[in-house]
Amino acid sequence: MTALRLDGVTKRFGGLLAVQDITVEIAPGQITGLIGPNGAGKTTLFRVINGSMPPTAGHVMFGDLEITGRSPHAICRLGICLTHQIVRPFLDLTVLENVTVPAAFGRGARAAGPARAEAEEVLEFTGLSARRSVAASVLTLAERKRLEIARALATRPAVLLLDEVLAGLNPAESERAVGLVRQIRARGVTIVMIEHVMRAVMALSDRVLVLNYGRLIADGPPADVANRPQVIEAYLGPRIEG
Ligand SMILES: Nc1ncnc2c1ncn2[C@@H]1O[C@H](COP(=O)(O)OP(=O)(O)OP(=O)(O)O)[C@@H](O)[C@H]1O
Ligand SMILES: [Mg+2]
Repeated sequence: MTALRLDGVTKRFGGLLAVQDITVEIAPGQITGLIGPNGAGKTTLFRVINGSMPPTAGHVMFGDLEITGRSPHAICRLGICLTHQIVRPFLDLTVLENVTVPAAFGRGARAAGPARAEAEEVLEFTGLSARRSVAASVLTLAERKRLEIARALATRPAVLLLDEVLAGLNPAESERAVGLVRQIRARGVTIVMIEHVMRAVMALSDRVLVLNYGRLIADGPPADVANRPQVIEAYLGPRIEG
C-alpha cells in the first residue's frame, strides 16, 4: 500500500529545473521528512503534489488514483492537504471561523452546523480553543502556525503536507509543535514535512528524503541519511582538501 506515489515528477521554470525526475512512494501512517538547502525544490514539489501547479512531466498518484494536474480544491477533497510556508489565515475572521471554512469544504463536505462542531474539536486538539473568538490578525506567530495546521486538519486529510511549521518558533513553541505533529500521526494521518530544524525533523521522521538542486540525493532512515557524504556536502558545500 502506498498513500502517495510520485513517478518521474519534474517541474521547470523557464531554464530552471526546480524539481528533476522525482520517483518516490510514501507509505501510509509514516512521517516522512523532506529536507534540503534553500531553493532545493521542496516547496515546488509540494505545490505539484497538491495541484497548485502542474508538473512539467511525471505523474502524481494518490493510492490508485492519478491526481496529476487536478485543482488544489479537488485534491484537498480527495484527502491531501498542504500547510503554507508563509501562513495566510483570513486575518479579519476569528480563529473559529478560519477553521470552520475548511471544515465545510474538505473531505466529505459538511453542512454549517457539523462544520462548526468539527472546527471546535480541531481547535481543542490543536490547543487553540481559548483563542477561538479573537481575530486571526492578533495571534502570535506560533499561534498562526498552529492555526495553519488546524485549518489543514479541519479538511480531514489522509495525507498532510507540512511546509516549515517549525520555522520561527522558539524552542518551547517548537517542542509543542513537534508534540502536535506526533499526535496527528497517532490519528492515522500520513505526514510529509519540509523542515529546516534538523533536530526536530530527525527526531520525528521515520524516513528522510533529501533534495538538492531539484534532485533526490538521499532516501532512508534519519540517522543513516544525516551521515551520508552527499548530504553533508549539499549542506556545507564541497570539502576543500588541504
Ligand atoms: N513560481 C516560480 N517561478 C519561478 N521560479 C520559481 C518559482 N517557484 C520557485 N522557483 C524557484 O525554484 C527553485 C526551488 O524553489 P522552492 O521554493 O521549491 O525551494 P525550497 O526547497 O522550498 O526552498 P526554501 O527552503 O528556501 O523554502 C528556486 O530556485 C526558486 O527560486
Ligand atoms: Mg520552501
